[in-house]
Amino acid sequence: MIDKKNILIGVTGGIAAYKVVEVASRLKKSGANVRVMMTSAATEFVSPRTFQEITGNAVFVEMFGDAAHFHVAHIALADFADMVLIAPATANFLAKAAHGIADDLLTTTILAFDREILIAPSMNTKMFENPATQANLEILKSRGMKILEPATGNLACGISGKGRLPEPVDICAAIEKIFTGTVLSGKKILVTAGGTVEAIDPVRYIGNRSSGRMGFEIAKAALSAGAEVILISGKSELAPPKNLKFVKTESAIEMREAVLKDFDSVDAVIMSAAVADYRVKNPAAQKIKKSAETLTLELVKNPDILKELGNLKKSQVLVGFAAETQNILEYANKKLVEKNLDFIVANDVTAEGAGFNVSTNIASIIWRGGEVENFPKMSKAELAEKIIERVADLLNKDKKFFPMNDNQ
Ligand code: C5P
Repeated sequence: MIDKKNILIGVTGGIAAYKVVEVASRLKKSGANVRVMMTSAATEFVSPRTFQEITGNAVFVEMFGDAAHFHVAHIALADFADMVLIAPATANFLAKAAHGIADDLLTTTILAFDREILIAPSMNTKMFENPATQANLEILKSRGMKILEPATGNLACGISGKGRLPEPVDICAAIEKIFTGTVLSGKKILVTAGGTVEAIDPVRYIGNRSSGRMGFEIAKAALSAGAEVILISGKSELAPPKNLKFVKTESAIEMREAVLKDFDSVDAVIMSAAVADYRVKNPAAQKIKKSAETLTLELVKNPDILKELGNLKKSQVLVGFAAETQNILEYANKKLVEKNLDFIVANDVTAEGAGFNVSTNIASIIWRGGEVENFPKMSKAELAEKIIERVADLLNKDKKFFPMNDNQ
C-alpha cells in the first residue's frame, strides 16, 4: 500500500527525532517517495543531511531560505504529499497546529494541507498529560487528524511514563493503515459476485458452483480502501456486507441490466460473477411434469456482460476473472483482449485450495502486454486486497510531480 506513495514527514524538536530516521528509511525501502521538513529545533537533534541521505531528497527547514522558491515551498510540499506524518510532535507543535499558527515552514505547510495527517506526539509525561496539551490534541482530533498514542516506558528526561515515540515499525504500520483506508476514497467500484440462475421452470434452474466468496471479499476490500461500493450478486448464501449498495439478481439478463444501470457512474468494475454462458430459450411457465424418457432443453447464448462493458468503456478500469480447468494462461489472455480488460485474474478451479466454495485461491494476474503475476495459495480476502491494490494503482496513476529542484 505504501509503494509509490508520496509521504511528507515533519520532524519537530524532540529527542526522539533520531527514531524518525529509521521511519524514513523503512518507508523509502517500502517504495515510498519520502520528503522531510524540519523545524529548526529539530535540526539540533538530527542533521538535515541525515534525512537527505536516507530519502535521496532535499530537506526543507527554512521558510525564507531560498529566495527564488520561498513562496512555493510550503504549497509545493503540501501538493506533493499523499499524507503527512508529524513525528516526533512536540507540545509546542500541537499547540500551534491546534490554533492555526503558521510561523515556520512546517506549520505553514500543515495549514496548506487538506489530506491525511498522522501525528505522533512525544514528550515528558507531565507535558503530555497537561490539560493544555490534551485540549490541543482534542482539537486536532476533531478536525480529522489522526493521533498515534505515545508509548509508555523510559523517557529521555530520566523518568518512566507515557510519552515515548512509538517504535518506527509501529509508526510505519499506522501509515500503512491510513493508505489502506484511503487509496480508493472518492472512487466508486462495482463488483459482481456469485453465480447466475437460469430458470428451466418455476422450480428448477441451471446454476453453477460459485459461492460468491471471491466477489464478496473484493467488495469488502474495496470498502476498506475507502471506496463507495455497489455489489451486484447472483446466487450466494453469504450475508451482504454492510455499508454498500447491494443488488440481488438472478439471471444473466438481470445481472446485465443491473450492471449497465450503474456502469456510467463507476470508476471500476470487477466482474467476479460466474455468469452462465447459456440460458433456457423458453423456460416453462409451470413446473415441468415427469413423462417422457428424455427431455431436451434448448439453450441460447447469454449476453457477455463484460465484453459489452469492454466496448462501452471510457475511463473505467475493467477487471475480469477466468476460471479455467485447462490452458489457463492462454484462455485468460484471450479473454483479456476480447473483453478489453485492464487485467484478468486467472485460476485453475480444479486445483486444491482454489476455485469454487473454498476460502482460498491460487491465482495469477495477467496484464495487457503479457506480464504475469503468479500468487501462491492465499485466502480469498488476501487475494481481494491484491486485486484492489492494483485497481487503486490504475485509478491513481496520474501521480503529482514535485515541482522543485532538489539541488536548491
Ligand atoms: O468468457 P468467460 O465466461 O470465461 O469470461 C469470464 C469473465 O467474463 C468473468 O469475469 C465473468 O464475470 C465475465 N462474464 C460476463 N458475462 C458472461 C460470461 C462471463 O460478464 N456472459
